[in-house]
Amino acid sequence: MTKLAVFASGSGSNFQVIAEQFPVAFLFSDKPEAYVLERAKNLGVTHYSFELKDFANKETYEEALVQLLDQHQIDLVILAGYMKIIGPTLLAAYEGKIINIHPAYLPEFPGAHGIEDAWKAGVKESGVTVHWVDSGVDTGQIIKQVRVPRLPEDTLETFEERIHQAEYQLYPEVIAELVKRF
Ligand code: GRF
Repeated sequence: MTKLAVFASGSGSNFQVIAEQFPVAFLFSDKPEAYVLERAKNLGVTHYSFELKDFANKETYEEALVQLLDQHQIDLVILAGYMKIIGPTLLAAYEGKIINIHPAYLPEFPGAHGIEDAWKAGVKESGVTVHWVDSGVDTGQIIKQVRVPRLPEDTLETFEERIHQAEYQLYPEVIAELVKRF
């Protein structure tokens, strides 16, 4: 069986949707106060949290992550709102096994504010992308993406909600495809 780990830094709504559909070996958060840890507790998913600042540098922080991933024999690392760039240490050990979801239609609107940036640009449609993770920011090979319209009556909030709903569909679809390969 494919062993999955999810990394998240925030609310964890994507984690929740994933954990309700697939067995998740563990959830990691780099933010000890993040709500995603509550969700993991409530779902009975093993969870870990430590912060970059507790380590001498990013290399030793990522060594600790690699150790966790190795220990659980993880096949696929699912980034779901994990707000750190994956560094060389983690990539060296797990490149080709890490995926990310981005709330825009890449290569349009990369970066931390994909939804707001698309909104401010006044697009008629944006989207959601799942991609492999490489050393860039939202530059890895695209696995699957969907378009999401912006409607004339939208507010930023309703637009954002439609994007999130598309994420909750797309990410499990891609994960279901990938777990068949392992
Ligand atoms: C999602 O919009 C995801 O695309 C982005 O960060 C957000 C995480 O939301 N990378 P949540 O923590 O899953 O609710």
